[in-house]
Amino acid sequence: MTMSGTGSAKSVVVLGTQWGDEGKGKIVDLLSKDVDAVVRFQGGHNAGHTLVIDGQKTVLHLIPSGILNADAQCMIGNGVVVSLEALKKETEDLESRGVDVRSRLKISPACPVIMPYHEKLDLARETALGKKAIGTTGRGIGPAYEDKVSRRGIRISDLYNHVLLSEKLEEALDFHNFVLEKYFHMQRLSFDRVLDDALQLGACFSELVADVAAELHRLRSDGKRVLFEGAQGSLLDIDHGTYPFVTSSNTTVGAVCTGSGIGPDAIDYVLGITKAYTTRVGSGPFPTELFDDIGAGIASRGDEFGATTGRPRRCGWLDAVALRKAAQINGVTGFCVTKLDVLDGVETIKVGTAYRLGGERLELPPLNSEAWADLEVEYESFPGWQQSTRGVTRFDDLPFNARAYIKSMESLCGAPVHMISTGPDRKENIILQHPLA
Ligand code: GDP
Ligand code: IMO
Ligand code: MG
Repeated sequence: MTMSGTGSAKSVVVLGTQWGDEGKGKIVDLLSKDVDAVVRFQGGHNAGHTLVIDGQKTVLHLIPSGILNADAQCMIGNGVVVSLEALKKETEDLESRGVDVRSRLKISPACPVIMPYHEKLDLARETALGKKAIGTTGRGIGPAYEDKVSRRGIRISDLYNHVLLSEKLEEALDFHNFVLEKYFHMQRLSFDRVLDDALQLGACFSELVADVAAELHRLRSDGKRVLFEGAQGSLLDIDHGTYPFVTSSNTTVGAVCTGSGIGPDAIDYVLGITKAYTTRVGSGPFPTELFDDIGAGIASRGDEFGATTGRPRRCGWLDAVALRKAAQINGVTGFCVTKLDVLDGVETIKVGTAYRLGGERLELPPLNSEAWADLEVEYESFPGWQQSTRGVTRFDDLPFNARAYIKSMESLCGAPVHMISTGPDRKENIILQHPLA
């Protein structure tokens, strides 16, 4: 740890306040040098978190973004749906680069396992939906969470009891093979094959299985610092997002407690990550989306391609209406604004400040998610800046108009800006107020 440990214990949540890919991974990596543990609490390997350190890029999907800081323990809490195949690949990739994963990673035995039938079902459903497809990452996330809620799921702990696993798998596979074969006209999965693979993969990780909740309580009572790393973004939340175009987990702050086993009193600070503009991958409403050269310029300068699927990300102006809601539902303490540099050279920058729906002016998104498709947006315009902000590390060194834009974001979005990211590299940041200070 590089920060002095004299203050009281601090736990920080880092979460996305838009539709994902806000730059959470970069910021978690940056902050993880000052914490003792980094914890994932929801989602799965649908996430793609990019870290750039001295020009070297690492994309993490399931392993917490603290893994490149040798002093941070990493934990996967019970709220995460785990593909052991994806975890094995990610672990091997990191270890081939000399990163010690196995001695630093702990996995909760209560994590639901993503089984091969979940991925098959996800893909089959998306194909069947045709034009109405959600545009999922195809990683089996939705079906795995459904099995958890229907109490049909297989948990990590089940992988270490052959008899119990066989019984549970028989029941689950009976059900899913019926759907695959009769509804989607696909091939059945072989019970023996799925069982053998699950047992083998389970054996690879047996030594990493640990009571994450108990470990977090121990760390807290020892005065250690813990960082909770969100995946996806608030507008993809199953309850608060643009349903049904959402992911299948709660991506908002409540999931920190349920997905890791801590109480709300153990959350001291919530850092909401937002880009200086907006992006979205997959289908669904996006009121401030741009379809012109400005949007194409942002996509190209921001290298806006999904870190998990490689799909181009849709780009648009900052949406202060949606961000206001994200600040409220997460109790955001401070925002971190990323990719400010991508707006360099844009002549006039716009921000969506209110919606209009059937003549009514809305300062918060509509509660009926179908209404999102019919919204009109009221914009406020800000003069852009022509200088480069790339790599700037002091607020006062930003061009005047960039400083004014950040200040306006604070008043429009309902929380102060505590950090600004000015490039993909770990060192390209302006820290106005350190979340752990
Ligand atoms: P996450 O899912 O929230 O961790 O974000 P992703 O890694 O999917 O996408 C963010 C992308 O933006 C990655 O390619 C990052 O390397 C990059 N990035 C993060 N912060 C900045 C920044 O301030 N400026 C620029 N130009 N790129 C950034
Ligand atoms: P990170 O953590 C951006 C989107 C998918 C799709 C919807 C449902 O990198 O920010 P799913 O596979 O979860 O059932 O897909 O959610 N989605 C993401 N979009 N970033 C992510 O993660 C995402 N994870 C899922 O594109 O629209
Ligand atoms: Mg991402």
